[in-house]
Amino acid sequence: MFEAISEAPPDAILGLLEAYRQDPNPEKINLSVGVYQDEEGRTPVMRSVKAAEEQIWKSESTKSYLGIAGAPEYASVVQEMLLQGGVSKSLRSRLVTVQTPGGTGALRVAADFLSQHFPQSRVWLSTPTWPNHPTIFSAAGLEVLTYPYFEAEKHALDWSGMAAALETTRPGDVVVLHGCCHNPTGVDLAPEQWRQVAEILDKTGAMPLLDFAYQGFGEGLVEDAAGLRELMNRELDMLVASSFSKNFGLYRDRVGALSALCSTAEAGSAVLSQIKRAIRANYSNPPAHGALIVSTVFQDETLRGEWEQEVAEIRQRLNGVREMFAQALEAEGIERDFSHIRRQRGMFSFSGLEPNHIAALREKYSIYMVGSGRINVAGINRQNIGPLCRAIKEVLAEPTGR
Ligand SMILES: Cc1ncc(COP(=O)(O)O)c(C=O)c1O
Repeated sequence: MFEAISEAPPDAILGLLEAYRQDPNPEKINLSVGVYQDEEGRTPVMRSVKAAEEQIWKSESTKSYLGIAGAPEYASVVQEMLLQGGVSKSLRSRLVTVQTPGGTGALRVAADFLSQHFPQSRVWLSTPTWPNHPTIFSAAGLEVLTYPYFEAEKHALDWSGMAAALETTRPGDVVVLHGCCHNPTGVDLAPEQWRQVAEILDKTGAMPLLDFAYQGFGEGLVEDAAGLRELMNRELDMLVASSFSKNFGLYRDRVGALSALCSTAEAGSAVLSQIKRAIRANYSNPPAHGALIVSTVFQDETLRGEWEQEVAEIRQRLNGVREMFAQALEAEGIERDFSHIRRQRGMFSFSGLEPNHIAALREKYSIYMVGSGRINVAGINRQNIGPLCRAIKEVLAEPTGR
């Protein structure tokens, strides 16, 4: 049977990481994969996480299975994290949450649930989006459509294109929105635009699915949930896929959650039971350790304070690097305008560099970035910023069409 199987192409982003690892150049720079790095290029375990793990190690008494939906106290923590900053109280009884292996697990469970109950659903994704989005929804058998999001020439949101496309959605459609720190562009909706998106979807009957993987990396933990609050307070049915890979640094522990906001508590109970069915057929029940860390940190006042401080440090570093990068490019005397890097938010910046520049950066300077020109700004530090900006200047000066 296996002789007919052909080689699958490498993952667009993880394949680059592999190439970076194998590159012998000691000056190589990795701006590709979406993992936070500190000034020293490390991805450390957070202090609050280490402290929680110590508590867990001392008190954990079993490794028996969790329930299909995961730990109930974790579900409460996730809801608190989403709802802080003010949403109507009545909403809580209609919000159901399950623990999932990462944000990817949440998206896949959502996709399986949708394809089981709404097989005609069309899933709308922004252009561009995280490359795994179309893969996940197509794998579940759903039709994937796209809406315009980014205007490359202006390095800004294509608001009129986006709004016009959303106006054409219909009941049963699902619109995937990035909660904050849009991956890959770093361009987010303004509060007024969130309000208008909620209004449009309310009118067309399409359902929002908020992918929330970077809460706290943009403006703040509460501020970054402004779009979520706008959608929730509009009383739309909606799904939220949370990931704590980035804001707790728990990448390999696979911690996420899927929440569904329903119009009645009865609908919530039925939806929860069907989501559990999708999980049972998928991975049966979630891994415990990472979620236990998140609950332990969030429920302990001191650890929570420490974690909030650590998230603030990450956010400040990301915004500081953006400023430093934009200034350093200007100081190189590059004519091209890179001021958009300052305005973008989160871990990613859409540099605006073209495929020939990106290839030249990789081949000549061992600088790795995703083919779309997405840069992980966390990969930039005081050591590599000089060589990086000089390399960008040189590839921009090369005649095109090499
Ligand atoms: C937009 C977006 N959604 C979801 C995820 C999923 O994260 P994970 O499955 O690692 O929790 C990521 C991770 O890169 C992401 O960028």
